[in-house]
Amino acid sequence: MPKVAIDGVVHETQPNELLIDLINRTGGSVPHVCYHPQLGPVQTCDTCMVEENGRLLRACAIGVADGMTISTKSAKASAAQVEAFDRILSNHMLYCTVCDNNNGNCTVHNTTKLLAIEHQRIPFRSKPYEVDNTNPFYRYDPDQCILCGRCVEACQNVEVNETLSINWEDPNPRVLWDGGSTIGESSCVSCGHCVTVCPCNALMEKSMLGHAGFLTSLRKSALSGMIDVVKGVEPETGYGAILQISEAEEAMREHRIRKTKTVCTYCGVGCSFDVWTKDRHILKVAPEHGPANGISTCVKGKFGWGHINNEDRLTTPLIREEGKFRQASWDEALALVAHKLSELKTKSGPDSIAFISSSKCTNEESYLMQKLARAVIGTNNVDNCSRYCQSPATMGLFRTVGYGGDSGSISDMEKADLVLIVGSNTAESHPVIATRVKSSHKLDGQKLIVSDLREHEMARRADLFLHPRPGTDLAWLSAISRYLLDNGVADTKFLDQWANGLAEYRKSLEPFTMEAAARISGVPEETLKTVAQMISEAERMCILWAMGVTQHSQGSDTSTAISNLLLITGNYMRPGTGAYPLRGHNNVQGASDHGAMPNMLPGYQSVDDPEVRQRFETGWKVKLPSAKGLDNHQMVEAIHEGKLNGMYLIGEEMSIVDSNANYVGDAFAKLEFFVVQDIFFSNTCRYADVVLPGAPSLEKEGTFTSTERRIQRLYQVLEPLEGARPDWEITQEVANRLGAGWQYQHPSEIMDEIASLTPMFAGVNYERLAGYRCLQWPVAADGTDEPLLYTKRFAFPDGKARLFPVSWIGPTDQPDSEFDLHLNNGRLLEHFHEGNLTYRTEGIREKTPDTFVEVSPELAEERGIQSGTWVQLVSRYGQVRVRALVTDRVQGRELYMPMNSLESPVNRLTSSHTDPVTNTPAYKETSVHLNVLPEVGESPLPRINSRFGHPTPQNGVEVERKWKRPDYAAPGNGLVQLQTKK
Ligand code: SF4
Ligand code: SF4
Ligand code: SF4
Ligand code: FES
Repeated sequence: MPKVAIDGVVHETQPNELLIDLINRTGGSVPHVCYHPQLGPVQTCDTCMVEENGRLLRACAIGVADGMTISTKSAKASAAQVEAFDRILSNHMLYCTVCDNNNGNCTVHNTTKLLAIEHQRIPFRSKPYEVDNTNPFYRYDPDQCILCGRCVEACQNVEVNETLSINWEDPNPRVLWDGGSTIGESSCVSCGHCVTVCPCNALMEKSMLGHAGFLTSLRKSALSGMIDVVKGVEPETGYGAILQISEAEEAMREHRIRKTKTVCTYCGVGCSFDVWTKDRHILKVAPEHGPANGISTCVKGKFGWGHINNEDRLTTPLIREEGKFRQASWDEALALVAHKLSELKTKSGPDSIAFISSSKCTNEESYLMQKLARAVIGTNNVDNCSRYCQSPATMGLFRTVGYGGDSGSISDMEKADLVLIVGSNTAESHPVIATRVKSSHKLDGQKLIVSDLREHEMARRADLFLHPRPGTDLAWLSAISRYLLDNGVADTKFLDQWANGLAEYRKSLEPFTMEAAARISGVPEETLKTVAQMISEAERMCILWAMGVTQHSQGSDTSTAISNLLLITGNYMRPGTGAYPLRGHNNVQGASDHGAMPNMLPGYQSVDDPEVRQRFETGWKVKLPSAKGLDNHQMVEAIHEGKLNGMYLIGEEMSIVDSNANYVGDAFAKLEFFVVQDIFFSNTCRYADVVLPGAPSLEKEGTFTSTERRIQRLYQVLEPLEGARPDWEITQEVANRLGAGWQYQHPSEIMDEIASLTPMFAGVNYERLAGYRCLQWPVAADGTDEPLLYTKRFAFPDGKARLFPVSWIGPTDQPDSEFDLHLNNGRLLEHFHEGNLTYRTEGIREKTPDTFVEVSPELAEERGIQSGTWVQLVSRYGQVRVRALVTDRVQGRELYMPMNSLESPVNRLTSSHTDPVTNTPAYKETSVHLNVLPEVGESPLPRINSRFGHPTPQNGVEVERKWKRPDYAAPGNGLVQLQTKK
């Protein structure tokens, strides 16, 4: 190991280590204002000067080399550090005691102290700009901005939204949004990266302002007066004494500000962060150590918590009486639930009752829900919403490689040479995963191919964008596989060693010539050959896919075709390769993992395997049913047929998010007894007989499993709102009133039981998951987990993968002369799913108030439609009224409707057709007729929506432009300019 001497002490270094990291790792101290380990060297602040052999170096910009002798404290280095920091203070008014950022982590405050600055040699100079308050979630104060550029680096190269820059050539540089727009009218997507990394109070969450400090809620005039007083005494007392006062105030804050780690409640990326709270007020979300996300979040995880303290929260159980709901005590409501479930079981048998668990709830809660169904009621009628999206992807992987989960981690997607995205609007549905792909594509030469109906952000960034006809991905994917095999560029060595079934698979590919694929998909043969070429040239390829694949009548087969393609190109078993079906909800992976499925006990152990059943029967001390239960699609049919009479549903807006919503609603109306547990009175609650108020993620403990199979703990940030209860406690109460005798005191005990019965989770426990620690299943008893699957073998008895033949059938519900347009649907960045949570955050509502239907410019012209025109969409199953948004994201006769609406849910239009293998609805196969209505309203997306902004892509903060300023000279004497990047 190379050795470096720092201030006379010799240290061993680590490979590719930056000098600043070595100094910090070994307990040294050198100021560093602009350096942030997750951003790499930015080199704007000049405070990290060190001396080596008489020359000055920026410690953040240089990698360690054997034999270096570094001084961080020599007179030369110290003078340069102080000079650089003086320049910073001329851009920032120190008023720490009355600053909401005075929380012990302000870099400017801490560096003032570290350098023992007593007096400011260069006076503070105000900048000629107003504070920008135009974003609902954060504000920028140019006068406090030290021009470190961390925010620019984060926005340009981590989030890669490319909104921010600094006008280095201007006499008064500042941070710019879209080159000079207000924040509110810029392309800023409010992901919060910039605010998170700002080392001072220049960018602040509005939820902090006036709330974090003891004196910060004072009127502005009073605050200004106090700041003047502080400035007045500074020449005499020096900063030392002033900082002591601010540190006393900071210490007082420690007693009232709680910082609690949680995991995001929205999508399957699994971002984790600390939530800062003062009583029930959420001060801010602080991402820093998340294993999936680091400093990253999207607008929902960073700012979308308006639902927590919303006045609409359910806090009292409700019982329907004579068609109306009345409030009831917990005791009465639970007694009624137990009585009715018990009565139904006696009268019509256990299989007359069904259970829907929630992919928003914890693993432990899904486990208890399926245990209630199986061990207490005696039915396998239990499912979760992965049926609506993920089951086909899981099936494709079960068929081919053995485990139903992402084969690697987000870090593998970053490492890949080629990422192929099929049917996933990743930048909006899995925003933090998209940042990693965008960054590798922008900075590291990663190639990107996107196949989608819409030209969304990832499509616009792609090296190659394919627009196949709806539902035809299977055809072109299989043709690529055949072409690679036919042309001898498949990975035959890998296939020989690791895959079964090649001969049969090859035979199944016979119909998939390039010519046939081009005819079916509409993608030209030449383009498909380019795809094949790019795949064959890539050393490491990852394929990401989502609901654009799975929500089709051949969702399972297309997922299988994807995995087949990865196998024939040898893109499994190595870092930077693999299959990534991106999971939608925060815990949709975990809900299935923990047995909320009609055919599987926890850990994907089949209900009809006597050995498995025996283990659970011994553990639970009951006899278990062996016949597969009903999935949630079959449940709706069974209600209509009169075979299913009772249902207990937790945290799912099923009456809106299941397809053919009118049909589902009619079914719920027929139920003899229906219990809905939720945090709001959802649309589904309207059909309930009893409504039980559950608790959102911030009000309970447990674990979530993200798309990477990453199990992470969430800690209780807030007490449940008075009257609401954590869902696991409610389920336990129901079970006990039915005679179960469960005695779980804490979710950790539930996890211990799961681990004892489920080989896949044998080594999972709360200690191993403490804080930001996590495990990616499968987890062996000794706690060894598998961030990358299949490194030694595939998950089949012989260790080999299976090429699984599929054939082309084609989509259902095709357009005809009456229903002449194809309707696609999906998510929007700002809203999650139907929007029950996100519409309760005011800033999100302000920027994205409603759903709409995207209409192509061609169709708009043909039908006389403009953005804001009201239209009626009519399908074979229902109709909705919605405003049009004319955009070139869609083409020709294809429409797109985001699913975030309670008033006009797209699922009034979708059908009951399903993928026959998994019963996942073919949501994306919907044909409609469009009637233009006479009213023209405002555009459904206001001007302040980020989609109307104009990003300014550039290569990070571009500090070289600062160095070229005529008034710039490096501090100290003898700086060697180095531009080392990590
Ligand atoms: S998109 Fe907006 S919030 Fe996100 S880093 Fe850029 S400027 Fe900041
Ligand atoms: S706003 Fe940006 S440039 Fe200004 S201090 Fe904060 S991170 Fe640095
Ligand atoms: S919604 Fe997804 S990407 Fe956004 S913060 Fe939450 S987990 Fe991360
Ligand atoms: S930390 Fe800012 S230049 Fe090194």
